[in-house]
Amino acid sequence: MEAQIVVLAGDGIGPEVTREARRVLEVVAVRHDCKLVFEEHLIGGASIDVHGTPLRDEVVARARASRAVLLGAVGGTRWDELPVDRRPEKGLLRIRKELGLYANLRPAAVFPALAQASSLRAEIIDGIDMLVVRELTGGLYFGEPRGIEVRNGCREARNTLVYDEHEIARIARVAFIAARGRRRHLTHVHKANVLETSQLWMQVVEEVARDYPDVTLAHQLVDSCAMLLVRDPRRFDVIVTENLFGDILSDEAAMITGSLGMLPSASLGDGGIGLYEPVHGSAPDIAGQDVANPLAAILSAAMLLEHSLDAIAAAAEIREAVTAVLAAGHRTQDLLLPGEQRPTVGCRAMGDLVLAQLGA
Ligand code: IPM
Ligand code: MG
Repeated sequence: MEAQIVVLAGDGIGPEVTREARRVLEVVAVRHDCKLVFEEHLIGGASIDVHGTPLRDEVVARARASRAVLLGAVGGTRWDELPVDRRPEKGLLRIRKELGLYANLRPAAVFPALAQASSLRAEIIDGIDMLVVRELTGGLYFGEPRGIEVRNGCREARNTLVYDEHEIARIARVAFIAARGRRRHLTHVHKANVLETSQLWMQVVEEVARDYPDVTLAHQLVDSCAMLLVRDPRRFDVIVTENLFGDILSDEAAMITGSLGMLPSASLGDGGIGLYEPVHGSAPDIAGQDVANPLAAILSAAMLLEHSLDAIAAAAEIREAVTAVLAAGHRTQDLLLPGEQRPTVGCRAMGDLVLAQLGA
């Protein structure tokens, strides 16, 4: 099997972590009879600097013609002064939208070796295994009208939170199907005591639920969900929610498992193309120092193998290698507890350790 992979490394630590993910992907794919053909393009601030835009049409076209996109991260303080519609983040939002990637899967599980790295007590996080299914192409991120204007000498800004029933139903289906493959428990997170959009989500999720009687559905207010995530995170199996709630809760879910540096994600749609990226950002403060944690990017490569190439065994091989490297005590600096003294490895060295574990 041959597959075209577009690599969009982006900004900050994006290029370093993506490089390690690609090395791992190359090694594992060959072994599982996948021939991957890579091409690299610019996105985010890196693209702004060279082309004056965070994402060129040509790059969107190349991504459309590919099987999957492996993405690093976008953004950095250098571009912080730009208006929202010209910032690096716009490149990421545009590629998600253009490829129709409405379903963002963010699995958060605890690696046993990292249980101590969580800011929560080990007995609270022991056995956490959840999946946040975040709607990715709607809601406040894309709703119109939007903008900042001056009215009667007063600056006024607006964003629009809008969802139609089809957008809700399709992401709900993704979540129910995911729950079926897991512990069959789905939590819909909303703010229906205040927002009409959440009331529609409630109704539509209930309607879709009729097709999945084997999955238990619960509705949870977003504020109390944020609270329960730190009080009793093990109660969650699959969470489904709108774009902005999902953005916020997935960082929280990531952090309680130990480090944001560990969480991968997959963004899928109906077009057959998947985009894979770590949940963490571009971390400009540590960029270029070879200290970033490449494991979220490497685990995103595993999700690529699983979801875009149907190479389940290859994906499992990567996850096992990561588990083993952590169990052997290797840590990047983000995985240390405050005050913990032990030697750490850099980004490249962590990639080398995973490759060695894979026997490469
Ligand atoms: C994420 C990020 C992005 C988002 C930013 C970089 C636009 O925070 O993928 O979670 O808000 O979706
Ligand atoms: Mg985010």
